[in-house]
Amino acid sequence: MHMKVTVFNGSPKDDRGNTHVIVSALLEGMEKSGASTENVLLARKKIGHCIGCFTCWTKTPGRCVLKDDMEELLKKYMASDIVIMASPLYVDHVTGIMKDFMDRSLPLACPQFEMGDAGQTRHVSRYEKYPSIVWVSNCGFPEKDQFAVLQLVCERDIRNNKAEVIAQIYRSQGPLLTSDTPELKPILERYKGLLRQAGAEIVLKRKIPVDLQAELDKPLIPEEEYSRKANGSWNSGR
Ligand SMILES: Cc1cc2nc3c(=O)[nH]c(=O)nc-3n(C[C@H](O)[C@H](O)[C@H](O)COP(=O)(O)O)c2cc1C
Repeated sequence: MHMKVTVFNGSPKDDRGNTHVIVSALLEGMEKSGASTENVLLARKKIGHCIGCFTCWTKTPGRCVLKDDMEELLKKYMASDIVIMASPLYVDHVTGIMKDFMDRSLPLACPQFEMGDAGQTRHVSRYEKYPSIVWVSNCGFPEKDQFAVLQLVCERDIRNNKAEVIAQIYRSQGPLLTSDTPELKPILERYKGLLRQAGAEIVLKRKIPVDLQAELDKPLIPEEEYSRKANGSWNSGR
């Protein structure tokens, strides 16, 4: 089956960000495995804050009252087999741009409540089928545990749409991805190779094998060394 993958990247740094480095390598692997891909940089789009009027649930079911780029983006979302939600970690969560995108996805669900898994109420789905989700994030701190809150959000976010999170790629030490330090080059090339493999596996098998995930999760450089270098680079900042 031909697969359509759409990325929604919520970094305000657009295609100069660390998130973009991860997404680009992942998409290379996906395209090599036959998927057609589209990389939407949300920073270039006009997305207003949700105003909480619930018009998308009352007067115009499934359609938002705000007239901006979200209508087109939600069409792209629903036309995808796999959606990659990509955002750097901002205050333990997604960026404001991505949060607006998530809030404005309200038209995809219906207002009615139903009982979901594990005894938790959720909204009734508006559509029969939703894309499967891959989450991608990177953060400035050295350890993987920094993504604990985001991971919970990602896993809970999909409950209304009965979608499935098929992969999660979280990169601590993210700023190394856009560093041009020569000794990092082989480390970054290796990591991008792992991402290309992950992209291929997601398209072909809809999951990342356990051993590949373990490699992706490893720190790029030892955590202490990273913090020392990071502190060195901030010396002028206080
Ligand atoms: C406002 C703001 C909040 C941030 N909050 C966190 C955080 O909670 N934890 C963390 O490890 N890094 C945090 N960071 C660092 C970013 O996650 C990091 O710089 C990341 O590489 C940015 O990705 P990008 O280049 O794709 O935009 C924050 C950065 C900013 C600007």
